[in-house]
Amino acid sequence: MTTYPALRIHNDDRGYRAQIESLPLPEPQAGEVLIQASYSSINYKDALAGTGRGKILRQFPLTGGIDAAGTVVRSRDARFREGDSVIATGYGLSFDHDGGYAHYLCAPADWLVPMPLGLDARRAMILGTAGFTAALALHRLQVNGQHPELGPLLVTGASGGVGSIAIDLASQQGYEVVAVSGKAALTDWLKGLGAAQVLGRDELPGGERPLEKATWGGAIDNVGGAMLARITRTLVPTGGIAAIGLAGGAELVTTVMPFILRGVSLLGINASDTPGPLRHEVWQRLASDWQPRHLDEILTDTVSLAELPDAFERLLEGRTHGRTLVTLGG
Ligand SMILES: NC(=O)c1ccc[n+]([C@@H]2O[C@H](COP(=O)([O-])OP(=O)(O)OC[C@H]3O[C@@H](n4cnc5c(N)ncnc54)[C@H](OP(=O)(O)O)[C@@H]3O)[C@@H](O)[C@H]2O)c1
Repeated sequence: MTTYPALRIHNDDRGYRAQIESLPLPEPQAGEVLIQASYSSINYKDALAGTGRGKILRQFPLTGGIDAAGTVVRSRDARFREGDSVIATGYGLSFDHDGGYAHYLCAPADWLVPMPLGLDARRAMILGTAGFTAALALHRLQVNGQHPELGPLLVTGASGGVGSIAIDLASQQGYEVVAVSGKAALTDWLKGLGAAQVLGRDELPGGERPLEKATWGGAIDNVGGAMLARITRTLVPTGGIAAIGLAGGAELVTTVMPFILRGVSLLGINASDTPGPLRHEVWQRLASDWQPRHLDEILTDTVSLAELPDAFERLLEGRTHGRTLVTLGG
């Protein structure tokens, strides 16, 4: 029987653990596609799932990894054929379905995006869910009326995967990007990606009044908590905030004043469940007119399946920046 290696996450009477195991090659059912995966990546959610520090998985054991890209080896869906190059991110991967940290992935065809012209599996996974999320956030802001003339665009959690790609994308579209980062040593790196200015996490202007001086045109926020609350109070009228993450906290304590007196919009971003048509459109843009210019600098580490547990620890301890690519068998 053909087998393949996968990073399996268990939670049972022997505790929470992630380990490499050999699995039998699955047989795709009707509507499913078997993919030989070449690359995956590490997102914040992957590190939470892999270490058990976040409640991400809904069943155990499961293969981790919310991202994968590779080649179709068997298809039981008319939309995909053997040899097609595909991207799989989000949906049930590493939630209630085996994910991308494996040499093979069997997934519903509805979850797959055909590799757009202009991208390959490696570049698609340097982007991964983080890149898709950054582009989705910018897209939602723009649909909501965000434009560079409204004022500077804040990007918080700037040195992370989503943050670094958001800086690249927004700066190339003419936004004056102000990066907020806890890593002062990375100021030059962030400016190299396109940030006009870099602020420390405690350097954001404004106090605790319901409305403070209107300073920012908009924001892409990966941090949540007190940082997001402060941003709501300091946006210009009609500015938008894309709320993506909770790296700094899940709470949001603010008032309705910015929303009812300045027309500020708080836009929720959910990358995993983005419906097919919008998902395809955003990947298409990432492969064409929105191609990041600095992916080589944003890729800061490449690891194998066996190196994943250490890489999860480094990410959660704040010792990483940019994106980590995972090499698989395909
Ligand atoms: N809504 C969605 O669909 C979606 C999709 C993808 C990711 N996310 C979320 O977005 C966030 C970023 O994801 P990612 O993959 O980019 O993670 P990442 O690469 O680990 O980046 C997170 C960044 O947040 C900052 N940060 C970490 N701990 C912090 C703290 N205690 N207070 C303030 N800032 C802190 C750090 O940037 P600095 O050191 O530069 O400040 C860190 O690099 C995560 O919360 C993730 O769960 C959500």
